[in-house]
Amino acid sequence: MNIQALLSDKVSQALLSAGAPAASEAQVRQSAKVQFGDYQANGVMTVAKKLGMPPRQLAEKAVALLELEGIADKVDIAGPGFINIFLNRRWLAAQVEAALASPRLNISPVAPQTLVVDYSAPNVAKEMHVGHLRSTIIGDASVRTLEFLGHNVIRANHVGDWGTQFGMLIAYLEKIQSSGEPDMQLSSLEEFYRAAKKTYDEDAAFAERARGYVVKLQGGDDYCRRMWRKLVDITMAQNQKIYDRLNVTLTRKDVMGESLYNDMLPGIVADLKAKGLAVESEGATVVYLEEFRTKEGEPMGVIIQKKDGAYLYTTTDIACAKYRYETLKADRVLYYIDSRQHQHLMQAWAIVRKAGYVPESVPLEHHMFGMMLGKDGKPFKTRAGGTIKLSDLLDEALERARRLIAGKNPDMTEEELETLAQVVGIGAVKYADLSKSRTTDYVFDWDYMLAFEGNTAPYMQYAYTRVASVFKRSGLDEGELTLPVVLNDDHEALLATRLLQFEEAVTTVARDGTPHVMCAYLYDLAGLFSVFYERCPILTADSQDILQSRLKLARLTARTLKQGLDLLGIQTVERM
Ligand code: ARG
Repeated sequence: MNIQALLSDKVSQALLSAGAPAASEAQVRQSAKVQFGDYQANGVMTVAKKLGMPPRQLAEKAVALLELEGIADKVDIAGPGFINIFLNRRWLAAQVEAALASPRLNISPVAPQTLVVDYSAPNVAKEMHVGHLRSTIIGDASVRTLEFLGHNVIRANHVGDWGTQFGMLIAYLEKIQSSGEPDMQLSSLEEFYRAAKKTYDEDAAFAERARGYVVKLQGGDDYCRRMWRKLVDITMAQNQKIYDRLNVTLTRKDVMGESLYNDMLPGIVADLKAKGLAVESEGATVVYLEEFRTKEGEPMGVIIQKKDGAYLYTTTDIACAKYRYETLKADRVLYYIDSRQHQHLMQAWAIVRKAGYVPESVPLEHHMFGMMLGKDGKPFKTRAGGTIKLSDLLDEALERARRLIAGKNPDMTEEELETLAQVVGIGAVKYADLSKSRTTDYVFDWDYMLAFEGNTAPYMQYAYTRVASVFKRSGLDEGELTLPVVLNDDHEALLATRLLQFEEAVTTVARDGTPHVMCAYLYDLAGLFSVFYERCPILTADSQDILQSRLKLARLTARTLKQGLDLLGIQTVERM
């Protein structure tokens, strides 16, 4: 049930009957204050202006035509022409019952679309570092949400698995293997990369061989292909461990690295030339874009092929967008990439649109995010100033959570402690990130994210166990609750209304790719439940009717919290 959508529909119809032009926006929102009702429609003023009509007059006309029989029991007009809607409690109660009866919390069906979500995208022969964390967990929350709504989601892990550096890496792998050293693990790949680079810079014969391998690899040479595959495999096996630890749904089959588009690149360059979009400039092939200007005010040139024949990151992203539309049949493509790559994407997509590779009806969306900062407000680094490896970060999260939980529960078994530390530690890191509006930089702060107060994972996970335990203590099964939900107390009605707004949060996250909206919703829900629980006794209720009705509210709260956290990729436990 999407109350906002339902009321929007009803108010739009009323406005239309009152003489408004078609497609006038009803602008229905959740009200910020109880005296303004549960929802308010703010569209009257804009429409009245268009019609040259006094807004209050239009509001009165619309309200008289508004069909909310059984849904609302009061509709007010306030100020210049705001319409305030007070929902009917019997109707709300019936919606609560419907949500409880549905395994999907009565979420409205959608017209399923094929959505491609580009996220995580680490680089081969490098370890994942904190720079990949945000893309990985925000992207995954988005994917979970879109799938929950019923869309067909294709996870696209745009791994950096191609480029001239692979000649050097293959040559170095060969060198190590021939010296009889055991196969390197990715944990030392950071070192491997550095050593390869050093050898390349210092050893001319090695560099010569490396350059030869680049050409051979691009030509599809068997040996180079095998060596390259080995590098990819080792890297992705190691990254998979991180995904599993993070409770991220990516698997090996989601890898669609840069190499996938390699064969398309010559054709793209030729086609862009044929279409008159690309031109030769000092040996390179360049697309000049009017909409991007250099400092001098000239159209900006985007190189798609270098003088030496090499293709660029942009060329790959042009091919990649084309592939996602043509081959994967995407209806919409979402990219979770940091904000520093915004211009790159805009340029690639401008070319994609001009060339007609993806029609305007298929949105290409950059859901960007800022950087992770340390407490000092500077980019988050190790003490020595190096990049922080993701595996080290997760180890620390686990260690801190273990200490925190052991301190609170001295009698916990070792096994229980381990599970809980995992759920809370990883949850804390993820939730801290997801709960912030993603467009800005955010400060990584252990103490804040592991606090049991505030909008944090431990608070939310604990809130879930508390709500779930109320139900357990009643000794009843959900199936044994046969008496209806009755919303007599204001706190019951407030909680019920918020519970029914779950779908609005889900829909917003699906549309805008903003998991923090879900976090804020769940945090608010948990707070409302606390107040309700304080004011409206459940287990000691006066009658069986009230007991069952309130237990149903508790049950739906528990299920909503769990479902919402699951969409964020945050695990819950039954006891902590
Ligand atoms: N591998 C890149 C990096 O580490 C991110 C790739 C993002 N996706 C894309 N389609 N360009 O920065």
